[in-house]
Amino acid sequence: MTYKACLFDLDGVLVDTAIYHFQAWKNLGTKFGYALTEEQNEQLKGVSRVESLNRILAWANYSATEEEKSTWLIEKNENYLDLISNMNPSEILPGVLDFLHQIKQAGYKIALGSASKNAEIILSKTGLIEWFDLIIDGNKVTKSKPDPEVFLKGASGLGFLPTECIVFEDAQAGVEAAKAGNMHAIGIGDAEMLRQADKVIPNFVGIQASELLQF
Ligand code: G6P
Ligand code: MG
Repeated sequence: MTYKACLFDLDGVLVDTAIYHFQAWKNLGTKFGYALTEEQNEQLKGVSRVESLNRILAWANYSATEEEKSTWLIEKNENYLDLISNMNPSEILPGVLDFLHQIKQAGYKIALGSASKNAEIILSKTGLIEWFDLIIDGNKVTKSKPDPEVFLKGASGLGFLPTECIVFEDAQAGVEAAKAGNMHAIGIGDAEMLRQADKVIPNFVGIQASELLQF
């Protein structure tokens, strides 16, 4: 099989924004007296903003009005934008730039497949944006991972079949989305957590793209 494109999730794969999401959700939790734990934050990885709030409210056992919810979604995002305002290239995860160099040189197309509506801001601030041929983010999809929409749009936007694409994902829902879309899935993180992935690597440090992708 000759793969033609690499589709990357953003948070937890290229940069670590989970710490900022965690901080912003924790800050929001003070409005309804709830202290989000780190373990719960793990479960919010790859989950859209609206769905994240719904889960947190369920954990807090708080039934919010629609008005409260929409105000809080705005407040959370304003706080998050504030927290990421100083992001810079030093926050690109180790090994990522080297890996991008290798696949670009090998002729692969590169796309983003992220649930985040702030993906472009993050890619710009870190300088990663220049590597991408196509960006599919939370503004361009209607269904969240594990639905494959975000990756299917990436594949078709680049003009390739799903089977010609490799997805890099750190979240279980993201790996599921890739497999549901009939793509090769490489998990980033813990193999126990990402059982559905075709292969799992802990991170990009020292990864030889030619070995991993067999070109
Ligand atoms: C990523 C993160 C999630 C976040 C989602 C939406 O998938 O892993 O934690 O909730 O993006 O991000 P946004 O920037 O649109 O609030
Ligand atoms: Mg992720």
